[in-house]
Amino acid sequence: MSENVGGEASLLKDINNLFGDKSPDEARELFTSMRLLLSYYKCAMMEVETKFRVLNEEFSLQYDRNPINAIKSRLKDGVSIREKLLRKGLPQTLDAIEENIYDIAGIRVVCSFYKDVYYLEEALLKQDDITLIRRKDYIENPKPNGYRSLHLIVAVPIFLSNQKKIMKVEVQLRTIAMDSWASMEHQLLYKKKVERLPQIDRELYKCAELCRELDGRMDMLRQIMIEEN
Ligand code: GTP
Ligand code: MG
Repeated sequence: MSENVGGEASLLKDINNLFGDKSPDEARELFTSMRLLLSYYKCAMMEVETKFRVLNEEFSLQYDRNPINAIKSRLKDGVSIREKLLRKGLPQTLDAIEENIYDIAGIRVVCSFYKDVYYLEEALLKQDDITLIRRKDYIENPKPNGYRSLHLIVAVPIFLSNQKKIMKVEVQLRTIAMDSWASMEHQLLYKKKVERLPQIDRELYKCAELCRELDGRMDMLRQIMIEEN
């Protein structure tokens, strides 16, 4: 989730990837609409990111520590959008993208402690301009490979000069330990079409268990520190 949307050249490449079979005129028109759509997603991403920064600021003034360790944002690129449309058997149109793909704008919030994940979720969802569309709690119910994170799809309004648009943003909340595991697993094999070795899967699962234990212990320490002070 590190890549941000590049300049016009990269967008043009994305458009070609998405709508490669169009005439030059059609492609230019799509380019303009796609650029606009992506800019809406970017604005929505900025809105949600700011909400987390505000919560972090308030919390740090109140409790003298930061619940957020890092925030990473990214817009999905054309190749990934195309792949997802194909995978879902959807037409390659802007409407299909807006209606069916919920992770064009993605924000990953890496939290210090396990409890901070749920504190931030609650604080975000009670804001009256945020609507929860979908929630997947892979912390309570980890994926079979051991992956843990809390995933939310939220809708947020963006206010433009003469209209209001409601855009969807994917939010992934996880601890530092969960993030380390997911980053390394991603490097190793997430979505890679390589032969899966059971031994690697078992080891990765064990590492995920270690991360879970680490989160539990650190949270216990956090609790003790609260009680002692
Ligand atoms: P995508 O089509 O991949 O977006 O999946 P989905 O729409 O079914 O959503 P889900 O909430 O399950 O996962 C979305 C995102 O979570 C992925 O794009 C990854 O960023 C992350 N993710 C999910 N599972 C794994 C995993 O096993 N390993 C790692 N490293 N990341 C994962
Ligand atoms: Mg995704």
